[in-house]
Amino acid sequence: MQRFDTIRQNLLERIAAEPIPRDVLKAPELKELYSGIGSLPPEERGDYGKQVNELKNALTAAIEAREVELESATVEAIDTTAPWDVNSAPVPLLPTEQGTIHPLMREIEYLSDIFARMGFATEESREIDDQYHMFESLNFPKGHPARDDWDTFMTVEADKDGDQFIAPAHTSTMQNRMLRKYKQNLVGGEPIAVVVPDRTFRNEDLDARHEHTFYQIEGVYVAKGVHAGMLVATLQTMLEEYYGKNLNVRINPYYFPFTEPSFEFALSCPFCEGKDPDCKVCSGEGWIELLGCGMIHPNVLRAADIDPNEYTGFAFGCGIDRLVMMKYGIEDVRHFESAKLDFLRQF
Ligand code: FA5
Repeated sequence: MQRFDTIRQNLLERIAAEPIPRDVLKAPELKELYSGIGSLPPEERGDYGKQVNELKNALTAAIEAREVELESATVEAIDTTAPWDVNSAPVPLLPTEQGTIHPLMREIEYLSDIFARMGFATEESREIDDQYHMFESLNFPKGHPARDDWDTFMTVEADKDGDQFIAPAHTSTMQNRMLRKYKQNLVGGEPIAVVVPDRTFRNEDLDARHEHTFYQIEGVYVAKGVHAGMLVATLQTMLEEYYGKNLNVRINPYYFPFTEPSFEFALSCPFCEGKDPDCKVCSGEGWIELLGCGMIHPNVLRAADIDPNEYTGFAFGCGIDRLVMMKYGIEDVRHFESAKLDFLRQF
């Protein structure tokens, strides 16, 4: 009994003094007490064990109390809402070390601004979605061969119907939601006009033009009497506003299940201007594909309960990384996600 009291007293004193009070639980005298139990006659073991437990509980409680005390003593309260004052920094900071907005984020704001001036609302996408929004609502029925074109990342887990979840491979996954959310506009004689700039993911072979994680801006416009000329005019205006000059744009027919007719817009390669057959950026083609677009397929309107006999619309999906690459002469799309400060500090 005497021995227990002495050990308790010693260890409590050490808990109060040690920088890491929990280390006291490793004290050799405690270990000795634990191992002592084996050498006792069976009838004494119960009482002895109880005392050892009591001692351990008392020490643990003292350690926890001391830990709380130490933590509150070392953490200085800071006002996280206080305005940032460069001069109060302990070490003088260079402007770039204060952090800057990532170039893609800044350009997304700029693009949203251009679209806002043309009457488009801006919405956000999501980073996990379902097969309905990735495929069915976009007129890709189950088993449609074009499902494979999107190099989609899927989860191992599946929903109750056995469908895996999807990291959106394009911002078109938001079309059905946007059509539904803004459908009310049509009743009031207003168009549905919305853009969705956000992150997309593809299981791609990577090169100077292809990243696994990149950004797109989706646009959806629906009203009475919308035609392809309005689509071309909207995109041409957006691009010329964004680059601040007249552009050399190529429009080719294309195929997407969710638009009919469909087109692809390409810009002439600003790196080689079509003169270098070995150009790494355009692969010697002289053009860089920038966006896909078209007139919204009647089935996509129907999936959002919009009557395609009454309303028509256009949609487009533009690669933001590529748009920005061509604005600033960035020769490789992979710089954006590389976290290389030398690259980021230029913006
Ligand atoms: C689409 O993703 C369609 N959803 C576009 C669309 C929307 C068509 C609405 C019709 C209506 P596509 O796979 O072609 O289409 O991609 C569109 C753009 O995203 C490309 O032109 C390109 O600029 C960009 N992009 C595609 N893959 C990558 C990638 N791996 N890395 C960087 N940018 C990419």
